[in-house]
Amino acid sequence: MNKRFFAISIIFISIIAASCSSQKASTASSGNKGLKDYYKDFFPIGVAVAPRHLAGDEAQLILQQFNSLTPENAMKMGPIHPQEDRYNWRDADSIVDFAQRHGLKVRGHNLCWHSQAPRWMFIDKEGKTVSKEVLLQRLKDHITTVVNRYKGKLYAWDVVNEAISDRNDEYLRNSEWLKICGEEYIARAFQYAHEADPNAVLFYNDYNEISPVKREKIYRLVKSLKDAGVPIHGVGLQGHWAVNEPSRGQLDSTIKRFADLGLKVQVTELDISVYPKEHDARERKSADADTTFTPQKEQQQLEVYKMSFGLFRKYKNVVSGVTFWNIADRYSWLDNFPVRNRKDYPLLFDRNLKPKKAYWEVVKF
Ligand code: GLA
Repeated sequence: MNKRFFAISIIFISIIAASCSSQKASTASSGNKGLKDYYKDFFPIGVAVAPRHLAGDEAQLILQQFNSLTPENAMKMGPIHPQEDRYNWRDADSIVDFAQRHGLKVRGHNLCWHSQAPRWMFIDKEGKTVSKEVLLQRLKDHITTVVNRYKGKLYAWDVVNEAISDRNDEYLRNSEWLKICGEEYIARAFQYAHEADPNAVLFYNDYNEISPVKREKIYRLVKSLKDAGVPIHGVGLQGHWAVNEPSRGQLDSTIKRFADLGLKVQVTELDISVYPKEHDARERKSADADTTFTPQKEQQQLEVYKMSFGLFRKYKNVVSGVTFWNIADRYSWLDNFPVRNRKDYPLLFDRNLKPKKAYWEVVKF
């Protein structure tokens, strides 16, 4: 055997060996069931991501556990459309490409919201507030362009996010959208999205849906849209909950109430904070110093997760998706809300991406 042939054979053998061992590794990991497998007869299990999560150990965890993605920020109006004549597709594209490569579903989030909207949307070149006609035309251009770009690659959109007021004496949030266009902007947003992609499942999405007062306002809005023939297909319950809420009764009646609308219900932004629920950002207090994930917090959180998933399964004919807001306790928006820099542990995986006790309760049924 000459030297060259020997060298080539060694390279060839090592390539075969490497490919066998990587095949073994991937078979081993696909043998580990993930949330998506436990729930395959119920609904897709999604997760909100940023492009930085799509490599390394977080990407592996995503592929093992989830079968749907939501861009955490990349498709919001401000990030994706920072100037009237400029779209920033990079981050949203990278998430959609990753999903396409790996056969994951994608929920678009979101097309019209009072927050993270670019300033230019509402003003003209002189800085004066635009008319209703101009704003609706801008909204139409935005929705048409974004929905068209991802047509056939996204199965659903949160069309309007958080239009309901948190004040007990007020129905709709007094946003720029409402001030300039009146209530009509909501129906228009759904029409524009439906025209751009008639196959996309269109959602109204909001938080604190478990509060009886806010729930009825969301119900009223969605029902009025449906009754007017607006193309709306589902209600997104964000599900930013906590160790002290919702109770079983509260969550059961919430899902039931929205099921009565005859639309699909999705839990779109699930996390369960280990601190009692607070709805508004506030200053740090001395009592916030202890951020240990104690066995007591772990137990309380596990019970809320167990109860919630039990109800999602009970309503499996209505619940068509459950999406977690972030992957693991390594990073959550709740680390900075309602208190800046207060570590929270709201998800099913710990900082090392290992399943927590709550995970095993969610998959035990
Ligand atoms: C709301 C929005 C989300 C996200 C969270 C905080 O729930 O719908 O897009 O901004 O707030 O992360």
